[in-house]
Formats: sequence, C-alpha cells, structure tokens
Amino acid sequence: MMQRCLEPELMNGDAQVQAYAAADFSSGDRTTVEGVQQLIDRTSPLPPEPLVVDLGCGPGNITLRLAELFPHARIIGIDGAEAMLVLARQRAQRQSLEISFLCLTLQEVLQGTLLGKADLVVSNSLLHHLHQPDLLWKVTRGLAAPGCRVFHRDLRRPASSAEVQQLLLKHLPSAPQVLQHDFAASLAAAFEPQEVTAELRTVGLDQLAVAAEDDRYLVVSGLVDS
Ligand SMILES: C[S@@+](CC[C@H](N)C(=O)[O-])C[C@H]1O[C@@H](n2cnc3c(N)ncnc32)[C@H](O)[C@@H]1O
Repeated sequence: MMQRCLEPELMNGDAQVQAYAAADFSSGDRTTVEGVQQLIDRTSPLPPEPLVVDLGCGPGNITLRLAELFPHARIIGIDGAEAMLVLARQRAQRQSLEISFLCLTLQEVLQGTLLGKADLVVSNSLLHHLHQPDLLWKVTRGLAAPGCRVFHRDLRRPASSAEVQQLLLKHLPSAPQVLQHDFAASLAAAFEPQEVTAELRTVGLDQLAVAAEDDRYLVVSGLVDS
C-alpha cells in the first residue's frame, strides 16, 4: 500500500492559478455535473429554490455548470484562495450567471452561517488537497439541510508508485513534465475508497456511497437524511 503524501491545501500562487485556469478539464467537469444530475434523478427533485454549495470551487469550472443546470438555485462557490475566486467571478460575469463566490477555508465554513442550509453539496478535485482526513465530511454534514444531496468526486490513490507511472503513461504520455509531476503528486495525495468509508463512518455519514470510478477516480454520493 502506498502512503499518502500531502500536497499544499490552497492553490493561491499566481502561476499555479493561471495554469489551472488555462487547462482544459471539460471532460471531467462534464462527468461530475452529469453525476450530480443522475443523483438528483434517482432520488427526488431539489426544492424549488435550493441552496447549492460548490466546495473548493477554484476558478468556478463546476460552479458555473451548476448555475446553468439549476437556474432557480442560490449558488455559492467557496474557496480559500482569493486568486481563484477573482477568475471565477470574472467568468460568472461574462456568462451573466448570478453566483456568490466566498473566500473561506473549509475550516472557516464550519464556524459560519451556512450550517444546516444546503440542499446540494458538491466538490470536484478537492478532497486530495485536504490534510485532515475527516474535514470534508464534517463540513458536508455541517452544511446539510435535511434531505441534502451530496456529490464529491476526486482522484483515488493508486496502490503503488508503479501504478502511478502506468496512469501517467496512459493518460498524460506527452504532457509537459510539470503537468505529469502535478498529476503524480495529486494521485499520491489522494485517498483510497476504504479510507473514505472509514471517515464517513466516524462522522455519521455512512449512508453515503463510496464508489471507484474507472481507473483513477472515486465518487462519494447520496442523501443526508437528518
Ligand atoms: C484542484 S482545485 C479544484 C477546483 C475546482 N473544484 C475544479 O474542479 O476545477 C482545488 C481547489 O480547492 C481549494 N482548497 C484546497 N483546500 C482548501 C481548504 N481547506 N479550504 C478551501 N479551499 C481549499 C484550492 O484553493 C483549489 O482552488
């Protein structure tokens, strides 16, 4: 088993933010939003004016799509890196989408005014950044209104560094070295599904399902009853 190797939590370096915003993640972003839609379809419709929260929203890749998918929702994107949110606000303005982008760390969300109010909590590519293994689950449980839908998607950690190399060769064979390095570091920082299952149990969210998706992702989804 490969040990988890942490990355910095926040992405607030100028070069890092620009590189992230310029990269094309559209295929993965689409998969995440389709997953959210499928979750709603197999549970029940959201309330008429739901509160939708995108955690670790970065430059708004997923938040903008959620705003298009749920035009009657109040949409909030949260990230601890203000440089990311500057780009997210510009994008939302260009697309005439009404979204609140709040500069808060997840740790701060736990002290805030949104607790118990969210009807849908989403994150994409956030979990592997977090140092405290139960933080996302505590925040999810804290934000959830009764009946809240939850959809978190991220990388999962491979079993060995040989497997990391195989994934690099398969998915980024000719990418610049810096991107290959970042991908390998993110895989090494990610969680294994059974680690997530154990954390969910400790915070009382064991009603959520943890599923491995293709060769490198994990999805945590479901409904929070109370
Ligand atoms: C890889 S980006 C993902 C951005 C976006 N969700 C997407 O799918 O493109 C991870 C984001 O999580 C933010 N983040 C990491 N740890 C955080 C924390 N503890 N509190 C708030 N934001 C955090 C980072 O600043 C970064 O913008």
